[in-house]
Amino acid sequence: MVDIAVLKPKIGETLELTGWVFNFRSSGSIYFLQLRDGTGRIQIVFSKSEVDDATWEALQSITMETSVVVSGLVKAEPRAPSGIEMQGVSCRILSLAGEYPISKKEHGIEFLMDNRHLWLRSVRQEAIMRIRSEIEFALREFFYVRNFILTDSPEFTPNACEGTTDLFEVKYFDDVAYLSQSGQLYLEATSSALKRTYCFGPTFRSEKSKTRRHLTEFWMLEAEASFMNQAENMQLQEEMLSFVISRVLERRDDDLKTLERDTTFLKNAAEGNYPRIKYIDAIKELQKLGSDIKEGDDLGADDETILTKQYDRPIFVTEYPVEIKSFYMKPDPENPSYVLNADMLAPEGYGEIIGGSERIDDLKLLEERIKQHNLPAEAFSWYTDIRRYGSVPHSGFGIGLERTVSWVCGLEHVRESIPFPRLINRLSP
Ligand code: 4AD
Ligand code: MG
Repeated sequence: MVDIAVLKPKIGETLELTGWVFNFRSSGSIYFLQLRDGTGRIQIVFSKSEVDDATWEALQSITMETSVVVSGLVKAEPRAPSGIEMQGVSCRILSLAGEYPISKKEHGIEFLMDNRHLWLRSVRQEAIMRIRSEIEFALREFFYVRNFILTDSPEFTPNACEGTTDLFEVKYFDDVAYLSQSGQLYLEATSSALKRTYCFGPTFRSEKSKTRRHLTEFWMLEAEASFMNQAENMQLQEEMLSFVISRVLERRDDDLKTLERDTTFLKNAAEGNYPRIKYIDAIKELQKLGSDIKEGDDLGADDETILTKQYDRPIFVTEYPVEIKSFYMKPDPENPSYVLNADMLAPEGYGEIIGGSERIDDLKLLEERIKQHNLPAEAFSWYTDIRRYGSVPHSGFGIGLERTVSWVCGLEHVRESIPFPRLINRLSP
């Protein structure tokens, strides 16, 4: 048995394929079967006069998504998108499918989401999943090559990392635990052991945001390095994203075409040279563009959209006011009302895909911040230990996988970027 994806060089060979029927039609003594096997799609043409009765009979009973084993001769077919088709020799049904709920007609989004387990079989969803996989693999490769050690963070945590408002609380025997909002605090510990570390796993936030950018469970790759400052941190992020985008352009070109993705901005992103814009300047620019944002406000989704539309590649917005950012961010020594941080915003209106910063390495200041943010000092004592025993300057960031996939694929909504999205109003399938 062979994958459809590797059939092209096998013209002239008679081979066996397995897969699912995604379409079929017949005209008298000719039967056209459209087969997908998850690696590709091909048309198989059967002539009644050239196949045995069992095969012809099987073909007559086929329904959408029936699973089959077929054999046939691989032929060049310039009119086919893949350049090949197959002359059918035999067809055997593995499992005859019942009436398939998804048809060629337009379905509403809620219907498709209810049938997500089946919707994933469509050409478009397949393409998105392959691109997602490519991005995950490229991210891991990038960090592996740079000697970052993978140290996965726990998902059950005793305390908050990114603020206490959007924590999922779960029963933990006779106690409570919180699902991880970020693996960062643990990475700060592992990077003091291994210098450069990263983690890549699910992250949970009970944000009551019903937007096209928010999931309640999403995947985040986080990286942390000892002795890395914020300028180096941004450089690392830029190199990482350029590498990942180059990889997708190189290896998933067919999938980008399936999605009819205009790749102009992706190509720019692969080149690097991402502008760095100070928060203060971003506010001024936004005001000029008609936003009613004021100094001290966080950038809303609409602001990010307007701002990123001014640039032809990702941008960094740097040095936000202390008050609107997380407790662990290091103040700029020259201007302590601002922190040494950056959000990376994806172009074309997509907005924030990365959040990162240099971390507070001074024990006293960190303890003060924990207090100011009303965080339980006791639960953070292991974290402050990192400053007690050989504190060093260090920085890191987190990239949201689904937001990145959404931008790369040009999706309207983040729900299509993950196999089974978890949203404020959706926990199934
Ligand atoms: O900016 P955030 O909150 O940063 C952190 O969690 C840091 N602790 C990371 C670090 O420095 N190690 O989240 C990082 C990224 C965002 O830029 C976004 O891409 C994604 O995580 N993200 C979400 N993606 C989907 N749905 C949500 N609800 C998300 N919240 C954050
Ligand atoms: Mg953020």
